[in-house]
Amino acid sequence: MQKTLVLLKPDCVERRLIGEIIGRLERKGLNVIAMKMLRITPAMSKQHYAEHVSKPFYPNLEEFITSSPIVAMAVEGLEVIRVVREMLGATNGLKAAPGTIRGDFSSSRQMNLVHASDSEESANRELAIYFQPNEICEYTPTLVGSFRAGDES
Ligand code: CMP
Repeated sequence: MQKTLVLLKPDCVERRLIGEIIGRLERKGLNVIAMKMLRITPAMSKQHYAEHVSKPFYPNLEEFITSSPIVAMAVEGLEVIRVVREMLGATNGLKAAPGTIRGDFSSSRQMNLVHASDSEESANRELAIYFQPNEICEYTPTLVGSFRAGDES
């Protein structure tokens, strides 16, 4: 089992797409194991996007990501880091394949609705920015047997 950080960004919240995105993750069979709404501060943005801070687009990205509340989630599942990234599609909504979240709902590079961690190392680092260990509610859903066979874990 892996965990990943998923952020529903300000554009997702403003456009009333929170339920649509959570619904897609749930229908896939992934476990939402923590969730909170918050406003990202400039300091949190610099911590979260540390690898982008020196890039030319960073000032606009910080302004955008701190502009309005976001929803942060910890999501768990088999190969969940890759699975969620594939569900999101390419970073630029204009290039994301139809059927992916960005392909269906975004036509922007910056306002691409959802962030998800890109590796196990990023997931551990990013989850720690948003959640204390005691805020993660791991559980085994009783329906797990309807989502996959017993030898698929
Ligand atoms: P995300 O997956 O959250 O990771 C970094 C974010 O920076 C990305 O989604 C976009 O919102 C934004 N981003 C990436 N590349 C660019 C770019 N070239 N111009 C503007 N924003 C970008």
